Amino acid sequence: MNEVQIIGTGSYAPLNIMTNHQLSEIVDTSDEWIFSRTGIKERHISQGENTSDLATKAALSALQDAKVDVEDIDLIIVASTSPDQFVPATACIVQGNIGAINAMAFDISAACTGFIFALNIAMQFLRTGDRKKALIIGAEVLSKIVDWTDRNTCILFGDGAGAAVLEAGSSRGIISVNSSSDGSKGGVLTCPNVDVKNTFTNGNKDFKATISMDGKEIFKFAVNTIVSSIHKILSENDYTLGDIKYVVCHQANFRIIDFVVKRLKADKDKFFVNLDRYGNTSAASIAIALDEMNKTNLLKAGDKIILVGFGGGLTYGASLIEWTINK
Ligand code: ACO
Repeated sequence: MNEVQIIGTGSYAPLNIMTNHQLSEIVDTSDEWIFSRTGIKERHISQGENTSDLATKAALSALQDAKVDVEDIDLIIVASTSPDQFVPATACIVQGNIGAINAMAFDISAACTGFIFALNIAMQFLRTGDRKKALIIGAEVLSKIVDWTDRNTCILFGDGAGAAVLEAGSSRGIISVNSSSDGSKGGVLTCPNVDVKNTFTNGNKDFKATISMDGKEIFKFAVNTIVSSIHKILSENDYTLGDIKYVVCHQANFRIIDFVVKRLKADKDKFFVNLDRYGNTSAASIAIALDEMNKTNLLKAGDKIILVGFGGGLTYGASLIEWTINK
């Protein structure tokens, strides 16, 4: 079996930034309410760029960081809750845009855990030797599926994309990845796509293709899942939290991370946070965070980090990584 390493990262977010104050002009809310309940100050919102546009820019940035020739990429996976269209897959659009002519490209749907699932799938292909270099991307234009009249949800989300290039080789990088789902609880976070309306049915007149959620249930699920995922991946690999330099949780809400820090009696500086500037970018959030940590030299070769995702499905998962990029 091969070992698998991350050899480059990239990210991109639309240039347009929307502040909490701007949101308070369209729904009944305030900067104080949003910041105190979520930790979010601002988010990037597309002014026309679609998910594949963001994914393409993140991909090119990751390829440049990895110093890899695009024709050497033989696997592309895009994780997204907000793909451009049913067909073609966003991954195929990205493939066409960047000229990765030797790749198999497909999308996966695992909501905010999408990047962890993509990491796991790519790792299996690379470990067995079936593929040599993979490009995995989490990309979202959530602003197109948010109900901009619903203050419970529209304040939370942002648009963006993050990417990583993985390579099969002999040195250890990705130590372990876990991913799981619980479909019985899918109803707490939903986004319908297209109503069933055909020659036999007139469909549902109240149909809305926007995100809705039970915020309190998600909050509980998130805290419990992050804590148990961290315990599980540490114990499976004989590590303790003391061995870990950074934990990168899906960036949904600062209060969720704060609860986790208290529950684990951990040092809060170990938990990377950038959601104040991005909001919740679902499948993109962990990848954007990883790229920011890489590009600002927060990560040093040899550091052990944990990535933890949780989200709609319900889905959850974690990865334990030894950082191998030497800047
Ligand atoms: N501005 C002002 N008031 C608001 C807003 C807003 N944007 N949103 C809700 N309120 C009001 C509510 O109407 C309610 O008023 P009421 O008491 O008069 O009915 C009051 O504030 C309290 O509402 P709660 O829903 O109880 O607020 P809570 O403290 O639970 O915070 C929040 C809501 C932030 C959504 C919280 O439940 C949460 O963070 N949940 C986690 C969900 C999450 O992060 N989801 C992200 C997507 S899922 C994922 O990424 C996996």
